[in-house]
Amino acid sequence: MSEDGQSGARGNGQNGPGRLRAAWRALAGHQPASSPPSQPPTPPSEFSVETLIGALPIPAIALDRQGRVLALNAPASAIAPALRRGEPALIALRVPELVDAIRRAASSGERQQVEIFERVPLDRWFEVSVTPVVPAGGAHADLLLMTFNDLTPLHRVEEMRADFIANASHELRTPLAALLGFIETLQGPAREDTAVREKFLVIMQAQASRMARLIDDLLSLSRIELNAHLRPDTPVELAPIVRQVADGLQMLARDRGVEIKVTVAANSLEVLGDRDELIRAFENLVENALKYGAGGKRVDIVLRHGETLSGELEAQVEVRDYGPGIAPEHLPRLTERFYRVDVVDSRAQGGTGLGLALVKHVLNRHGGRLTIESTPGTGASFTVHLPLAPAIPCKREI
Ligand SMILES: Nc1ncnc2c1ncn2[C@@H]1O[C@H](COP(=O)(O)OP(=O)(O)OP(=O)(O)O)[C@@H](O)[C@H]1O
Ligand SMILES: [Mg+2]
Repeated sequence: MSEDGQSGARGNGQNGPGRLRAAWRALAGHQPASSPPSQPPTPPSEFSVETLIGALPIPAIALDRQGRVLALNAPASAIAPALRRGEPALIALRVPELVDAIRRAASSGERQQVEIFERVPLDRWFEVSVTPVVPAGGAHADLLLMTFNDLTPLHRVEEMRADFIANASHELRTPLAALLGFIETLQGPAREDTAVREKFLVIMQAQASRMARLIDDLLSLSRIELNAHLRPDTPVELAPIVRQVADGLQMLARDRGVEIKVTVAANSLEVLGDRDELIRAFENLVENALKYGAGGKRVDIVLRHGETLSGELEAQVEVRDYGPGIAPEHLPRLTERFYRVDVVDSRAQGGTGLGLALVKHVLNRHGGRLTIESTPGTGASFTVHLPLAPAIPCKREI
């Protein structure tokens, strides 16, 4: 077709531009340029209210003036299964605010908007518009069009934001209350007691450090989230990073009586990454293994090649401990902010419950993921999966 068209456009006579243009007009249904301006197009008669309502991607219902259902689409049936064509909508809908809105729209001829909340089968929020549709040349609305805008995702985000602020302020309030208590005691009854002062100062320092760490973690999280769409592009070799993390945590390991063993089972594990963020992520995994799995006396870190779910080669770093492990019901929630299996234990260890959330965000930004396996009683294994850096293309002579 394109070959013919091109040769025709260039040629004269039988295959000339005039003939081509005429054929194109016929195909596209265009009028000749000389014909009078056409009337605004009218939809073909088979485009009924039902077809149009059926084509809308959001729940939509058309009602007649008596409030009977003229047409409804599948999303509308899904949220109001009792609605039937030809039957009054008011009985099936049974939401007083909605019934009111329909009545007001029918009597005033003006669009009404209401927000409704449904508890069953799931919590859902909708903004419903009831729009009277007046036919061309008519005086009254013959039809009421109801459309439902699902506000549930917005409400969920709002709930998460409120939960997050409640959690963060609670985490800050606890050490702050402790600090204020100690300050009061030091100003009052223990003013002259040097031994008590020394003891309190140690506790106060720990509480203040916890608050500083919490704020630090929150800032890191928001910075990583802010850059979530920017994939790091610096080639980074994983083995030296993991060794650096393990060396840095030797003191903690000694304190807990744990031996860290690093095994590098691959020549090169180069990824495109942000070095500081990766260090932070591995630090949290190894620190968790040392803090919560200390009973096992050993932490194994293994670096190796593995396969992605789609069978491509990837870098894997597994951090395994032999402590009490984690019950299966907790596994899916571990990377949520502030989620802790044992809040008292985590707080006692200076934890804020943000570590694994940070790991997850760091890995997401790197196009990687975290998998967790655990059998209670035998320990836990956290594996970081990262895409390998693409091989640098060799230069070719042209
Ligand atoms: N290796 C592990 N063994 C047993 N439980 C673990 C292990 N790693 C994490 N957990 C559990 O998961 C929870 C969440 O870990 P996460 O690293 O997110 O927070 P945290 O260690 O409590 O605080 P932070 O990392 O901010 O210091 C921990 O409180 C702990 O209950
Ligand atoms: Mg942690």
